[in-house]
Amino acid sequence: MPKTPLFKTSAPRALGQVLLLTAGLVVSQGGAFCSQAVAQVAPPPGSASPAAAKAPLPRAWDDARLSPDERADLVLAKMTLHEKLQLTFGYFSTQSDKPASGVKNFELPKEGLPASAGFVPGVPRLGVPNQWLSDAGMGVASQQSKTPRLRTSLPSGMAVASTWNPELARKGGAMIGNEAFLSGFNVLLAGALNLVREPRNGRNFEYAGEDPLLAGMIAGNQIKGVQSQNVISTMKHFAFNGQETRRTTIDHKIDEQAARQSDLLAFEIAHEVGQPGSVMCAYNRVNGFYACENDWLLNQVLKRDWGFKGYVMSDWGATHSTTQAANAGLDQQSGWPFDRSPYFADALREAVNNGYVSEARADDMARRILRAMFAAGLFDKRVNGDASATIDYGVHAAVTQAAAEEGIVLLKNTAGLLPLSKRSRSILIVGNHADIGVLSGGGSSQVYAHGSPTNGMIVPNEGPSGFPGPKVYHPSSPMKALQARTSATVTYLDGKDVQAAAAAAARADVVIVFAEQWLGESADARNLDLPGEQNALIAAVADANKNSVVVLQTGGPVIMPWLPKVGAVLEAWYPGTSGGEAIARILTGQVNPSGRLPVTFPAATGQLPRPAIEGLGTMDPNGHPTSNYDVDGAAVGYKWFDKTGAKPLFPFGYGLSYTSFDMGGLTVKAEGRGLQARVVVRNTGPVRGKAVVQIYVSGQGWEAPRRLGGFSKVDLKPGEKRAVTVPIDPRLLATFDVEGRTWRITGGGYQVTLASSASDPIQSVNVDLPASSFVQGPADVRP
Ligand code: BGC
Repeated sequence: MPKTPLFKTSAPRALGQVLLLTAGLVVSQGGAFCSQAVAQVAPPPGSASPAAAKAPLPRAWDDARLSPDERADLVLAKMTLHEKLQLTFGYFSTQSDKPASGVKNFELPKEGLPASAGFVPGVPRLGVPNQWLSDAGMGVASQQSKTPRLRTSLPSGMAVASTWNPELARKGGAMIGNEAFLSGFNVLLAGALNLVREPRNGRNFEYAGEDPLLAGMIAGNQIKGVQSQNVISTMKHFAFNGQETRRTTIDHKIDEQAARQSDLLAFEIAHEVGQPGSVMCAYNRVNGFYACENDWLLNQVLKRDWGFKGYVMSDWGATHSTTQAANAGLDQQSGWPFDRSPYFADALREAVNNGYVSEARADDMARRILRAMFAAGLFDKRVNGDASATIDYGVHAAVTQAAAEEGIVLLKNTAGLLPLSKRSRSILIVGNHADIGVLSGGGSSQVYAHGSPTNGMIVPNEGPSGFPGPKVYHPSSPMKALQARTSATVTYLDGKDVQAAAAAAARADVVIVFAEQWLGESADARNLDLPGEQNALIAAVADANKNSVVVLQTGGPVIMPWLPKVGAVLEAWYPGTSGGEAIARILTGQVNPSGRLPVTFPAATGQLPRPAIEGLGTMDPNGHPTSNYDVDGAAVGYKWFDKTGAKPLFPFGYGLSYTSFDMGGLTVKAEGRGLQARVVVRNTGPVRGKAVVQIYVSGQGWEAPRRLGGFSKVDLKPGEKRAVTVPIDPRLLATFDVEGRTWRITGGGYQVTLASSASDPIQSVNVDLPASSFVQGPADVRP
């Protein structure tokens, strides 16, 4: 499969060169000969300039008692059109050695922070701060650089979703928001939640799984955490950016009802929970229109129906027009010079002057950006350059470790192989640098670990040198962390010699094979197999020693042909900068695993709605690649498996523990327009552990037999018993009425099921619900 990396490190810099936008394809800029000089802006507050020396006069909008709307209106009233539109145009902020555009005359913004995603000049005359933008959801990232900033990385988004613990997601968001702020950034491009429609999608590791409720709750809480730190968070990539293959041209077709009940519902929930200041529209087209000039997505669904008050920023290179994009709801063009033209610079001023874009709309664009800045506190607590020396890395290591520990999923554990027996005398660790570190995912979200020698590159020269590389391992050694917790002799082999690994395995008490799947932005996995010889290596080792444990570090689901042979399997995802400690603590039983899969693990690609990745074959009459999301529609992930009767390798919601739980006593009562389930959970095993109560609901005429209706994680000591109440959002009992733009619950019988995964029901009760319709979530209900 051809990879299509986006060479974002190829920021144009010199005349006479060419901007690479899609790998393999050199995209020339088609005659558009434009020059865009970076606006001159005041130095950041606190810098030693004459302007900063004078204390600014208090302005009406400095009054924090006023609402963000009032404050935004007060500033707006003082702004010229030029100043308003200055806010709508952002720059990429990374210098690069790669070939640069010959046609764009890009100058790196002088006040941008190096190797960062973006910069938007403020309006010093009025005290409007600059916007300094950084990626992304795992922490403060750096674009490819010889001297990246070194920070704390959370585990991957998929790992955080595996915790089924929104509170941990919020804490993680607050931690990375704090590092962003202290690194001089006030906009963090975190909050990614495209539903996993394609398990081979190269960016699944950044997202929050396949279920709208789980993904919405996890990402929404992360956004909330980021924004608690005076940093705007984004919600992205809006919407249906379900694969990387041909991501900048593909047109995803989907029926509106299915759209509202799947990916859009995830975003709707995240929006309600997190109130993101910004939303990033995606690269792809949706139903014929680019996401960044898609009136239905931006104006109708997001702004009108959900009441989104912030601003829409484009993905880097996802703006394609001036008038159409502005009128369809795009508020800020990002990352110049990624696009063909600086559509929202001079051209937008001209469009407003000519009346193609109304002045009211220009005001709306600027007001939305200002409002988001006020709401997140960007005026009140201003970033002050690089204060990273004051980051409390010790406290942050504990935050990422807690997320990694709750995100690790125990998939198999035969005869109590885990936790490792204290009687083991020799432990052999095999493969993938587990002696020195843990893997991370590639692309714009790449964080380089704090405390790492050699600028974050403990394993140089693996993986691609260009985007989405480099392939980065964080210096948190599972082997050293294990050695610190066992009296056994622990040895390491890289596993390249399969025979030697099998021979050594035969001599060890226990073998732990670290297997990996490295994924990165801009390319999808070719298939669901572990790459290279890893399947053969695991099979050979397991043949030699039945006490074989496999620790997976993958971006998403993989197929496991060796599963019957091995004793235990842990899915550790990309576990972040304290991942080695987290893995060792789970292996030794210091921590009881409590992760549950946020995504179905298929048994074979033939079970998927799209056995081959779309976009490589079919073209529409205009030559655009297309994909048909109506095949699965709203039946994403486990819903597709349920609907088609396919048996997955591991179902959504699945995960084992070192203890056992007894769950039952399900009762259900009406609560608002939705329901509330009550369940009693008891820890019946020997150790403390966390159970995840999962409540599924079934109704007539739905996309699939059941939906996750609610969930709750509960921490129990041995023998402890607790009653848990789980609210069920009424939208999960409804279908979306496209004509009336309302959610509708059909009167009649529904089934509510307590389960330990999407495939493991425990107890069901039937309830009758009256007919109702409502516009939004649990509140705001129309009879
Ligand atoms: C990605 C975004 C990212 C942006 C800025 C794009 O390629 O799709 O997720 O925030 O670059 O780096």
